[in-house]
Amino acid sequence: MQNFDYQTPTRLIFGKGVVEKLPEVMSQFGKKVLLTYGGGSIKKIGLYDKVKELLKDFEIYELSDIQPNPKYDPSVLDGVKICKEKDIDVILAVGGGSVLDCSKAIAAGAKYDGDPWDLISYKAFAKDSVPIVDIITLAATGSEYDCGGVISRTETNDKIGYMDPHNYPVVSFLDPTYTFTVSKKQTAAGCADAMNHIMEQYFCEDSTLLNDGFMEAGLKSLMVNAKKCLEDPEDYTARAEMMLTCTYGCNGIYSLGNSQTGWPLHGMEHALSAYYDITHGEGLAIITPRWMEHVLSEKTLDRFVKYGVNVFGIDASLEKFEIAKKAIQATYDFFLSIGIPMNLRAVGIDESRIDEMAHHVAVNEGLEEAWVPLSEKDIADIFKASL
Ligand code: NZQ
Ligand code: ZN
Repeated sequence: MQNFDYQTPTRLIFGKGVVEKLPEVMSQFGKKVLLTYGGGSIKKIGLYDKVKELLKDFEIYELSDIQPNPKYDPSVLDGVKICKEKDIDVILAVGGGSVLDCSKAIAAGAKYDGDPWDLISYKAFAKDSVPIVDIITLAATGSEYDCGGVISRTETNDKIGYMDPHNYPVVSFLDPTYTFTVSKKQTAAGCADAMNHIMEQYFCEDSTLLNDGFMEAGLKSLMVNAKKCLEDPEDYTARAEMMLTCTYGCNGIYSLGNSQTGWPLHGMEHALSAYYDITHGEGLAIITPRWMEHVLSEKTLDRFVKYGVNVFGIDASLEKFEIAKKAIQATYDFFLSIGIPMNLRAVGIDESRIDEMAHHVAVNEGLEEAWVPLSEKDIADIFKASL
């Protein structure tokens, strides 16, 4: 087991109706609030009105229209400007991972004198940030319990996942009922994203029985509950379990003491969604089985066998490569069964920019250090196999 130094300072408040605690929670941080949200889903589900009513004694400023794959310009820059001009005490992010990620970049940028891109691109490091409270409305990213924020800069095709301990939300409200309205497409993409967060930690050199069991249970929970959510979007128990399993995804708790993996699937997918603005979870689902096929070898075989037997219940007495191949096929089949289009062309990506994207990933993502090192050619081959 590897050494680690772990702290997640976020308070989780979970369950039906917990948003009633919002005024009490927010009052710890001050009166001037920047309310951030996306394209309007929170208005449709009545959450916007609810928040405004609960916070009627606060001074509220708003930043709306934060897009999926949130953009540096205008969203992050606009949010930083409001925070600085109005001397905002606390940010309340209400929405999916994109709203929350954008709010993290705003929170750090608001306390930084230079260009906020310096922080996102690790040219400088935050010394302080505005506290963030969130009400998450989509089960997927785990942004509500981690210190990562993924920001896109359109003109350079950059999509950077930047981590900074200042960016942990101070409080996250998780009410599964707010996810009842999440579309089938986003429910499936959220499931694929969260499954990938686990796989990025599971496929490693050095793990423990404890972590493997935790992650295998997480994968099974996501697969069972995503199907239930798709069949009955208002199945509270399924939405609730899915939400919590997603929340654990990215803050490291699944793999304390494991060796690092380099998160190769995310490194590759971020290029796809930067260049083509596709849905992150769909991009991940498409490349995952192709990456698995690419990295399967005598050296990695046992990991795939364990995954196949414990997650998909494949007969352990079969020949090892047969188990591994069945596991990869089962992964593909599951994503297809929840409605994910399983090739890049189906989401609007053809071969024309594959070499350019592979180069971008190779230069920026350091995948030579991944569990199975990936060169520029490997990355291009995985993209081509995904077409
Ligand atoms: O914009 P609105 O109108 O709110 O609609 C959103 C958006 O269109 C909608 N939605 C959200 N909650 C809803 C809802 N629709 C109906 N009912 C609700 N309750 O769903 C659409 C997608 O929202 P988005 O926030 O983009 O989805 P998600 O939560 O999957 O976030 C994706 C972003 O997070 C990044 C991804 O790269 C992508 O940019 N990631 C962040 C991570 C992190 N911070 O740790 C880790 C992930 O690996 C990921 O990279
Ligand atoms: Zn992800």
